[in-house]
Amino acid sequence: MEELDSLLKEDRVFKPSSEFSRSARLQTFEDYKKLYQSAQQNPQNFWEKEAKDLHWFKPWKKVLTWDPPDAQWFIGGKTNISYNCLDRHLKTKAQKPAILWEGEPGDTKTFSFKELHEEVSRFSEVLKNLGFKKGDRVIIYMPMIPELAIAMLSCARIGLVHSVIFGGFSSSAIEDRLQDSKARLIITADGGYRRGKIVPLKDNVDQAIQKTPFVEKVIVYQRTKAPIKWNPLKDLWWHELMSKAKKGVDAIPLDSEDPLFILYTSGTTGKPKGVVHTTGGYIVGAHTTAKYIFDLKEEDIYWCTADIGWVTGHTYVVYGILSNGATTFMYEGAPDFPHKGRFWDIIDRYKITIFYTSPTAIRAFIQWGDDIPKKYRLSSLRLLGTVGEPINPQAWMWYHTLIGKEKCPIVDTWWQTETGTILISPIPGAIPTKPGSATLPFPGILADVVDQYGNPLPPNKGGFLVIKYPWPAMLRTIYGDHERYKKQYWSNFKGIYWTGDEARKDEDGYFWIMGRSDDVIKVSGHRLGSSEIESALVSHPSVAEAAVVAIPHEIKGQGIVAFVTLKGNILSSKELENELKQHVVTQIGALARPEHIRFAKQLPKTRSGKIMRRLLRQIASEGKVTGDTTTLEDISVVQTLSSQDEE
Ligand code: WT7
Repeated sequence: MEELDSLLKEDRVFKPSSEFSRSARLQTFEDYKKLYQSAQQNPQNFWEKEAKDLHWFKPWKKVLTWDPPDAQWFIGGKTNISYNCLDRHLKTKAQKPAILWEGEPGDTKTFSFKELHEEVSRFSEVLKNLGFKKGDRVIIYMPMIPELAIAMLSCARIGLVHSVIFGGFSSSAIEDRLQDSKARLIITADGGYRRGKIVPLKDNVDQAIQKTPFVEKVIVYQRTKAPIKWNPLKDLWWHELMSKAKKGVDAIPLDSEDPLFILYTSGTTGKPKGVVHTTGGYIVGAHTTAKYIFDLKEEDIYWCTADIGWVTGHTYVVYGILSNGATTFMYEGAPDFPHKGRFWDIIDRYKITIFYTSPTAIRAFIQWGDDIPKKYRLSSLRLLGTVGEPINPQAWMWYHTLIGKEKCPIVDTWWQTETGTILISPIPGAIPTKPGSATLPFPGILADVVDQYGNPLPPNKGGFLVIKYPWPAMLRTIYGDHERYKKQYWSNFKGIYWTGDEARKDEDGYFWIMGRSDDVIKVSGHRLGSSEIESALVSHPSVAEAAVVAIPHEIKGQGIVAFVTLKGNILSSKELENELKQHVVTQIGALARPEHIRFAKQLPKTRSGKIMRRLLRQIASEGKVTGDTTTLEDISVVQTLSSQDEE
């Protein structure tokens, strides 16, 4: 397998304003380079120094043991993430809001650090009194309400291992995760609000536990008062249990390598994997990356729109933000309910200063039209972020101009469920940004782009994105399947973590993610990453979103089929199809000219918003989808695409 051909050129560079840099933690490119270089020479020193920011009941004896592919961090140290997010701040921040929340119907709640500490210690008492013990797995399946964070922090406080399941998943997804984790307890709610309707969370749980007799209790938070079935042998009301918990319990010292949570990755391929994260390393990673990358300040109101069911929500709605003593804003519902300006309205009303969302959300905003965000001031914002997919330069520019008003740095953060924390990202006051690039690795992260033998590639040659040295928040195993862990991440290159992504580094060392390895297209012997061709399509004024996949081609080996959604009221036509093909040729060259363009109302996505190219590949070559579609957000999208006749 050869390297990837990179065809897209993007020369724009944006320096952070001097106003932003002046008050930032790292203020110049030199600051970053110095810190990066010293951490590169001795990553353990860097992380050890950062770890001292946090509370440890007992200091570690050794920073790292590395017996590839098994790493342990802060060995012998005892700590607790709930303590670090709550108790540690009580002296200086008791009255400061820890969580601000708005429900979809418009109801609101605020918890100061003191109030959150009290709720969490009391809910830990509830869990303890019910007989759940350190190491027990707990499934949490709730709407985006503060009690979801309270449940997580309470588990962490007494060493229960939580596994949060996204509230949009169905009962079969819960059942799979129950079977794998053998959780004795589920924490859920009677429902949650989504686009004005009630999501029947408790019903889904009832269905899921029919074949899982090991589930002993179901704690139900009353959110909607919708009627639900009640099993007196298992079901318990959250509020009734809490009314009896008076004293609360202290955070217990946990071993640095005690498991903290299991998170099942939805993945765009295959069966979900239970990614296991542990205590000490994860806190250090979450705390440190949040501090530098979001440049958190005392007065910030930070909003990450991710659901807590994804790792983004774990690390950057809850743990990394609260451990820094910052205020985290949570919103329960959909971005387009009751109107498409809901997010911008929230930003203005709560004076959000840092806003972190996904490219898929940004592309939806673009499709809805510029006049919507233009109705809002958005003047409180000072920093923007994205995560989850490559952001096409066009979408980056839109975000920069319409939302950031050309004054907010954008942190395009690259990471994975497995990495636990951001690994490649701008540090906003220090690193100049380029639209579409996640820029440079975080201090202590030795990222590289290599060929199939593991040799580093020269600038602008695409290849495998790898991490060459362990980092504190890395996954430790796949729950119950250590062999799969070894095979999946560590078998391609000895002692080196394989991310599954393809990327290139430019002449300044900036990383450009080119897509998943599985999505590479090979045209006439040239390997092309999906993301560059998609970016070329999205740079056409009519296109909102694009996904390209390979189909077999007699002469070229593989040909390109592009699935495209159009902006606003634009209609598809043969002329537009030809224009788009020509546009790709002009933007990146004849090699990337799509064989077919297929216009679609929507593209199939995972529930976390990633385009499922695997399904599009099947639709393009076989006209239908076979295999696993459980992670798909909306099956009707695939049905519509499959029944469409190609013109
Ligand atoms: C995959 C990981 C990390 C939390 C959310 C997703 C893609 C993620 C970026 C980015 C380009 C990105 C990669 C990665 N990805 N962030 N900034 N630029 N690609 O977590 O579901 O585990 O997915 O998402 O392909 O491997 P995940």
